[in-house]
Amino acid sequence: MCGIVGAIRAHHNVVDFLTDGLKRLEYRGYDSSGIAVQTGNKITRVRRVGRVQLMENAAREKGVHGHIGIGHTRWATHGGVTEPNAHPHISGGLIAVVHNGIIENFEEERARLQSLGYTFESQTDTEVIAHSVKHEYERNGHNLFAAVEAACARFHGAYAIGVIADDNHKEMVVARMGCPLLVAFGNEETFIASDVSAVIAFTRNIACLDDGDIALLNANGIEKLLDKNGQAAERKVKVSELSLASLELGPYSHFMQKEIHEQPRAIADTAEVFLDGGFEPENFGTTAREVFAGIDSIKILACGTSYYSALTGKYWLESIAKIPTDVEIASEYRYRDVIANPKQLVITISQSGETLDTMEALKYAQSLGQTHSLSICNVLESALPRESELVLYTRAGAEIGVASTKAFTTQLVVLFGLAVTLGKMRGHVGEEQARAYTEELRQLPGSIQHVMNLEPQIAAWAQKFAEKSNALFLGRGIHYPVALEGALKLKEITYIHAEAYPAGELKHGPLALVDENMPVVVIAPHDKLLDKVKANMQEVSARGGELFVFADLDSNFTESEGVHVIRTPRHVGDLSPILHTIPVQLLSYHAALARGTDGDKPRNLAKSVTVE
Ligand code: G6P
Repeated sequence: MCGIVGAIRAHHNVVDFLTDGLKRLEYRGYDSSGIAVQTGNKITRVRRVGRVQLMENAAREKGVHGHIGIGHTRWATHGGVTEPNAHPHISGGLIAVVHNGIIENFEEERARLQSLGYTFESQTDTEVIAHSVKHEYERNGHNLFAAVEAACARFHGAYAIGVIADDNHKEMVVARMGCPLLVAFGNEETFIASDVSAVIAFTRNIACLDDGDIALLNANGIEKLLDKNGQAAERKVKVSELSLASLELGPYSHFMQKEIHEQPRAIADTAEVFLDGGFEPENFGTTAREVFAGIDSIKILACGTSYYSALTGKYWLESIAKIPTDVEIASEYRYRDVIANPKQLVITISQSGETLDTMEALKYAQSLGQTHSLSICNVLESALPRESELVLYTRAGAEIGVASTKAFTTQLVVLFGLAVTLGKMRGHVGEEQARAYTEELRQLPGSIQHVMNLEPQIAAWAQKFAEKSNALFLGRGIHYPVALEGALKLKEITYIHAEAYPAGELKHGPLALVDENMPVVVIAPHDKLLDKVKANMQEVSARGGELFVFADLDSNFTESEGVHVIRTPRHVGDLSPILHTIPVQLLSYHAALARGTDGDKPRNLAKSVTVE
C-alpha cells in the first residue's frame, strides 16, 4: 500500500534512486506513481497511472534531473485511479508532498483551506497537506520544518510524509504518525523510504522514525529531529541485513513461485531457534519466562493470512499447552467493548509488522491494561515488534508477492514452537515428547521438499480450476484453517470466487451450491477426523460435485469418477497443516498462470495495509 521514497544526493541525479526505489516498492501494491524533483528553482513533476515503468519512461523522456526529490506509489483510497489524484501533490508550485496514510479530518481541512482561497485539483486527502504546509511556509518566512510541524498539528489520522520546497535546494522534511518511514544514510546522500527494500541497493545504514517524529534532512543525514513531545531526539542507526538477492526474481517467473519454493529453507531457518536452543521461553525475549509464567490465557490478533495462522495456532496452544486461546480479527477487536484480562498474553501476528489494524488493536489492548504482548513478525524493527514486550521473528526473508506464502508457514512454525514451549512450562510436555516434537520440526523441511515434487500434478488440476467461477474448500479440525487459506489464495490471485467451510458445516448451507460446476477441494490427511471428512465427501459426490482431495499416504483414498486424489508422501503428525498448505498455494499459483492473472500483484490488493 502506498510507497514513499525521497532523496537528497549531493553528487548524483536523484531520479535514478527515485525510480529504482519505487520499483522495489511495487510489491506493496499500487495503481499509479509519480515523482517531484527540484530542477533549478522549480519543482518538476511526472505522474502516470499504471506501472512505475511508464512513469520512469516519461521522466527520462523529459530529461528530469536534480539533487533533491520525492516519489510515490499510490494505492487509491480517497478518489479514483487518475493522474490528478496521483502523488506528489503540489501547492502553488512551491511545496510538493508525498503521503502514505489517511488524514481523517481532511474534509474540515479542505473547507478551511478553500475559505483561505486554495483550490483543489484532486479528490485526495493528501492535497490538504500540500496546501496546509504551503500556507504555513508563506506565513513563517519559508521555514520548511516549522511549516510541516504546524500543519501536522492540525491533522488527525495516520501519515508518513515527505515534503520539499521549490526554493530549498538542500533540505527535505519528513514526518511520521502511524505509517512506516525510515531514513537511510549514504555518502553525502540521504534517503527516505517506506521500507528498507527501496534503499539497500544504495545503502544499508538506516534509522526508523517513531510515531510523532518530524525530521529535517540534508545530504549529510538528520539535521534536526523532534519527537512526539516536541523534544529533540536521535534515532539509532542500524545496518540492515536484508540481502539484495532476496529482492530479485532469480530463475523464477514470479515472486510467489519463488517464495513457495523457498519454504523448506525459510522453515528450517525459522525452526533453528527451537532446534538449537530448545523449546525455551528465552527464545521469545529475556523476560519471557517470567511473563509466560504469569499468564492464564492467550488472545491472538491479526489480519488476512496471518489471521489464519493464528486460527491454526489456537489448536496447538489448546491441545499441546492446554492454555485457553482466543483468536480475533484485529479490525474487529479494536472497535469492540472488550473485557480486559491483565493476565492474558496478547499476541499479534504480522508479516509486515506494519498492518495498521493489527497495530491499533495492540494499542487498544495495551490501553485496557493488557500489558503482556508478543509479536510474531517477519520484518525486523517494524512497528509491531517495537511496541511489543516480547518478539520472535519468522525468518522467511523478504516476501514480495502480495499473497502471503512463506510468511504463513513460518508463522506456523513459531506458533508450534510457542505451544510446545508453554506446554513444557505448564507441565504438559515432558522431555520425551519435546524430543519427538523437535524431530517432527527437523524433518519438516525435507517433507515439504517432497510435496514440491507434486507440482506437475497440482498444475494439471489448476488447468481445470482456471475454467471455473467458484470453488469450495473443506477441512476439519486443525486443517480447517488450511482450507480457509487455500480459498483466500485462490480468490486473491485468480479472482475465482472461493469459500472455505469446516466440512461438517457443509449440509448447513454450502451443499446447496454443489453441482458439477463446483470443484470442491478437500484437505484430508490421516487424522482422527478423517472418517468424518470421508462422510462429508460422500455428500458432495452424491450431488454430482467434483472432489479434489489432498491426502497423505496413510489416508487410503482411491481415485474414482469425480474424485481426484493427490497424496502427500506421508503423515507428518502435528505439523500436517504446514505440509498441506503447500499444495493449496501451488494450486492457486498455477490457476493464476492458467488464467493469465498477475499472481504477484493482484488487482485492488496491497501487500502492506497501512490504512484502515
Ligand atoms: C494484506 C496482504 C496479505 C496479508 C495481510 C496481513 O492483505 O495482502 O497477504 O496476509 O495484509 O498482513 P500482515 O503483514 O499483517 O501479515
